[in-house]
Amino acid sequence: MSGRILVLGATGTVGSHVVEQLVARGERVRAASRHAAPVAGAESVRFDHLDPSTHEAAFVDVDRAYVLVPSGYLGAQDILHPIFDRAASRGVKVVFQSVFGVDADDSIPYRQAELHLERSGTRWVTLRPNWFMDNFHTYWHEGILRHHAVAVPAGEGKTSFIDARDIAASAVAALRSDRFDNRAFNLSGPEALSYHEAAAVLSNALGRTVTYRPNDDETFVGILTGAGVPEDYARFLSSIFHPVREGWAAAVTGDVETLTGRAPRDLRAYAQDNTGRFAV
Ligand SMILES: NC(=O)c1ccc[n+]([C@@H]2O[C@H](COP(=O)([O-])OP(=O)(O)OC[C@H]3O[C@@H](n4cnc5c(N)ncnc54)[C@H](OP(=O)(O)O)[C@@H]3O)[C@@H](O)[C@H]2O)c1
Repeated sequence: MSGRILVLGATGTVGSHVVEQLVARGERVRAASRHAAPVAGAESVRFDHLDPSTHEAAFVDVDRAYVLVPSGYLGAQDILHPIFDRAASRGVKVVFQSVFGVDADDSIPYRQAELHLERSGTRWVTLRPNWFMDNFHTYWHEGILRHHAVAVPAGEGKTSFIDARDIAASAVAALRSDRFDNRAFNLSGPEALSYHEAAAVLSNALGRTVTYRPNDDETFVGILTGAGVPEDYARFLSSIFHPVREGWAAAVTGDVETLTGRAPRDLRAYAQDNTGRFAV
């Protein structure tokens, strides 16, 4: 494997780390986003999931691809199946960023997409990351800055949060080696924490109190739609906390270490490395 690696969502939460880590290892990277934003060390390409006329050029002279659906989109299968088909027709190996737990039920759209990739005939690796630690400085950032609180419908459920840098390191290992081909990996952090416990870890690192305020689905949907999130996507986001409340997001796996050779970061390390993002 010596050709270019296409990275979708290359300026996003995980993709930006994937590009940075690949470039650091001397790989030739094509960084795809709608705006073809310049990315240090990589060539940029315009790619819009919703505009198929942008897809073919992104795949020219590529032998591996990191594929994800950016946040904010419903209909994962409609977005992913054509990309997997295009990759397969070109013999491009796909490392696919799926979602933790979707293998529980073959009818889940992300699982349907995984199955489509597995049957596509091309080489594949599926990564199923759990909830990102990075959500604290993305989706929940404003609540932490303005209200010193994380308000989500997670109940008392525990989550083995993972740092996006460790998802990216796992992706880089899967892209650069054929040892992991045609296998799926469930990526978690090293420990399962309730949101109360996670808020306490953040409070310690930031030197001020951050609390967890559990809310119910309707309150959560109301907050999101009030902030301009379309109602169907707000309801989707609320629905994915059901597995958290049930305790299904608490599993801790060794798959990051299997892929990267080292243990994933804990929430304390994430918080310490990101204190600057929470400065008030
Ligand atoms: N957050 C979590 O806790 C979590 C947990 C498990 C799994 N996941 C999964 O992870 C995925 C999201 O990963 P992420 O947070 O790394 O992504 P992200 O940050 O939301 O992705 C943003 C990137 O995608 C690009 N993008 C946005 N719209 C696009 C479009 N229409 N066509 C092409 N590129 C587009 C953006 O650049 P431009 O705006 O310039 O296009 C940017 O590069 C989702 O599938 C989610 O289900 C998330």
